[in-house]
Amino acid sequence: MSQEVQSRPAEAANAIRVPFVRPALPPLERLRPHFDAILASGRLTKGPYLERFEGAVADHLGVRHAVAVSSCTIGLMLVYRGLDLAAGRCQAVRPGGACPVSVMEPSSRDSAAPTSAAREPPGEVIIPSFTFLAGPAAIVWNRLRPVFIDVDPASTNVTPEAVAAAVTPRTVAIAACHNFGNPCDVAGLHRVAAAHRLPLVIDAAHGFGARQNGRPVGAGATAQVFSLSPTKLLVAGEGGIVATDCDCLAAFIRLGREYGNDGSYDAKFSGVNGRMPELSAATALEGMAILGEVAAHRRRLADGYRHRLSRLAGIGFVREASGSLSCHKDFSITIDPAEFGATRDAVRSSLALQGIETRSYYDPPCHRQTAFARYHDLDRVLAVTDSLSSRSLSLPIGPQVDDGVVAEVCEAIAAVGHDR
Ligand SMILES: Cc1ncc(COP(=O)(O)O)c(C=O)c1O
Repeated sequence: MSQEVQSRPAEAANAIRVPFVRPALPPLERLRPHFDAILASGRLTKGPYLERFEGAVADHLGVRHAVAVSSCTIGLMLVYRGLDLAAGRCQAVRPGGACPVSVMEPSSRDSAAPTSAAREPPGEVIIPSFTFLAGPAAIVWNRLRPVFIDVDPASTNVTPEAVAAAVTPRTVAIAACHNFGNPCDVAGLHRVAAAHRLPLVIDAAHGFGARQNGRPVGAGATAQVFSLSPTKLLVAGEGGIVATDCDCLAAFIRLGREYGNDGSYDAKFSGVNGRMPELSAATALEGMAILGEVAAHRRRLADGYRHRLSRLAGIGFVREASGSLSCHKDFSITIDPAEFGATRDAVRSSLALQGIETRSYYDPPCHRQTAFARYHDLDRVLAVTDSLSSRSLSLPIGPQVDDGVVAEVCEAIAAVGHDR
């Protein structure tokens, strides 16, 4: 069951007074001139705003290429396809190796497409189970096998040590996530990936606004793939960004978002329509001007939540590593039922009755979902993931929330526990 579907019964019964999320959009007067120009030009796609947006993001992230796509999911799918992992040929991060992500080899690339002989996925990608389902979906769509591993309970991200322990000769890539906007250890993961000559793909869907060692997250991996959907800090409506330093991978994504057609109408491989429309690119381009403010507002709200909720027994918080600054795409707490005196679900229901919308990310975790359970032996218990998914509660955060709302939500939580 999806997070959206899960949250409906309570919402339907009680009017939502405090929505979980509202998009952080630039003022309409800043957007309107761009929309007018786009509509007057008749150029709704593949136009100047896309180019300006991609250039601005590449500068902001400090990467050679920021390729805009229609969603993070499509970006992840194209990245795995571009790395040609199904054929085990990717050497994009192999030190000194020539990058083989060639857009000029249509026959060899499409030979990696599913055939009747290729029933079993040939390669494995190590990925946390405590993440959003789009991550493993992009792997499975490329006929690769997700290998789910546990996360660190404090950061809710995978650690380099856990990833290193999971590498086998069948591993073809390492996937990680900046969960809830909390940066994962990109440098440590890159070291593990480089030691095993594997590409590192980071699901940076939550990453805009997050910082690590004084820089926005986005560099340092084979690719980091961002989402620009309405729940994120930088919003395009729908959209994604593939950030990479690899010229060949970037060229592949540019071609892949365009059906594999380089303009000759002779498709070089089977691609998709993964383009970002001009109205979306213009919205996100203006959004970059307010990104710092949007992130600062979330950090203030997160501090407020933390300050008030730390007085309650049994409430846990996501920990940022030293040098890392979460953007708080989500503000997620854990609720220990024994210490707090009530379960996460009881708190969630009580808040819903008061019109306060929350989410229970990620319940069920990926390794227990219908689409992915076949890839996981349930005897291999992911204890932290199971615990987090039953205890984690994401609270309202964003432009619709102020200090008063934080106080109200915290009081509503406190009223359910022992301390009531
Ligand atoms: C961690 C994570 N990865 C990927 C995605 C998919 O992003 P998109 O909706 O842009 O495809 C999401 C969506 O929220 C997400 O939370």
